[in-house]
Amino acid sequence: MKDLKDKVAYITGGSKGIGYGVAEKLIEAGMRVAISGRTLKSVEKAAEQLGNDSQILAIESDVTEHGDEKKAVQKILDKWGQLDVVLANAGVGNFAPIDEMSDEDWHQMINTNLNGVFHTLKASVEALKESKGYYMTLASLAGCNFFATGAGYNATKFGVVGFSQAVMLDLRKYDIKVSTIMPGSVATHFDGNEPDASDEWKIQPEDIGEIVVDLLKLNSRTLPSKIEVRPSRPDKK
Ligand SMILES: NC(=O)c1ccc[n+]([C@@H]2O[C@H](COP(=O)([O-])OP(=O)(O)OC[C@H]3O[C@@H](n4cnc5c(N)ncnc54)[C@H](OP(=O)(O)O)[C@@H]3O)[C@@H](O)[C@H]2O)c1
Repeated sequence: MKDLKDKVAYITGGSKGIGYGVAEKLIEAGMRVAISGRTLKSVEKAAEQLGNDSQILAIESDVTEHGDEKKAVQKILDKWGQLDVVLANAGVGNFAPIDEMSDEDWHQMINTNLNGVFHTLKASVEALKESKGYYMTLASLAGCNFFATGAGYNATKFGVVGFSQAVMLDLRKYDIKVSTIMPGSVATHFDGNEPDASDEWKIQPEDIGEIVVDLLKLNSRTLPSKIEVRPSRPDKK
């Protein structure tokens, strides 16, 4: 995708954090961007901050619901007639030693982080075949490094990495590119964080946006399928 102008992207979980930062960079690149979240109010507020013009579409959709994702993609096709880029970004993190992990927290993570990326892919794959588009997932370094209290989160992110790599093999014959981005600490609202000056050492959401733009612009013959991203100086924590 040499020229990104007017290409259409769908970012799940774009109301804040990484999804919002990626939306900023795609809009700057001239793309039309749909962002989603669980409540229309939060997504509309984000769309307003992003400029709320004809380049932006706010969608209420819960990725845990396959039907919501189908309707979200249909809304995008109805508005813009095409879908070129999908970033399955929506995710949650509930951390506890496994003997203290509640059923509710476990299932929320599996349903959002893992079933969610499946729902988003299934809802958009025919449109991506049409556009010879790009499907990206937002995994994590927790998709290759395990840690105490991370059993549920690790399970979902290891799952997302495996899913994305296998899907890449399934879909490349349609000229659909698939990549998974695996960041370390990013300054977002994740796990109840409120980003402030003490987060300066972390990756910033717009940095992930720059990576997405670079991936989209890369020569069509080349595909970085798995991208690990980390803060350069975690010792400044
Ligand atoms: N922050 C990090 O250090 C870090 C590192 C590696 C990977 N990640 C991953 O990056 C992704 C984005 O997280 P973030 O750090 O940007 O966190 P965040 O600031 O908390 O944002 C999470 C986003 O996901 C949305 N969301 C949550 N559940 C949803 C659902 N069921 N349906 C639709 N949207 C939903 C939220 O929207 P609403 O609340 O409006 O519904 C919000 O827009 C996640 O997959 C996370 O695992 C984060």
